[in-house]
Amino acid sequence: MQTAHEFFIHELNEMLDVEQRLVEALGELEAQSSRPELKKAFAAHRQQTEKHEERVRQIFEELEETPEQTECKGIKGLIEEAHAFMEETPSEDLLDVFNIGAASKSESYEICAYKSLVQLATDMGHRKAAQLLKQNLREEEQTLKKMETFSKKIKPEQSGMEEEEKQPARRRTRRSKAA
Ligand SMILES: [Fe+2]
Repeated sequence: MQTAHEFFIHELNEMLDVEQRLVEALGELEAQSSRPELKKAFAAHRQQTEKHEERVRQIFEELEETPEQTECKGIKGLIEEAHAFMEETPSEDLLDVFNIGAASKSESYEICAYKSLVQLATDMGHRKAAQLLKQNLREEEQTLKKMETFSKKIKPEQSGMEEEEKQPARRRTRRSKAA
């Protein structure tokens, strides 16, 4: 690889793979989550991701290039992390909390990737591509915000706070015995 154009195409192929993998992964998140509002959010997110894939394909058309099958190791790793978590046989409750975090991580990854791509497209004078990439970027940012709102609202049922409250009391008892 020598030219900026080759690099741009390489990065677009990676992004196409990201979006394709996420369409599938979001289907899994939807199926696994137990809270209806989460299921709904993941389903909507999946549809949005299909649109992102479509926009990336549109850029290839604009540039008169053909997409090539590639494997984005970054997003593949995040998906593997989620699969590994399932092997821990989490409770429904904790799985919901995990899934919100998993979606946030992949959104953050996409946001960084799209920011770089927007910059590259702008520098290279590909105005239409930059515009399509910015549209995807904006939607990723909105979805991340939505996930952050969920993470403030959806907490593990047993947060562990009960234990922390008990401990100082126990310590006090011990101290009063010693005195
Ligand atoms: Fe996306």
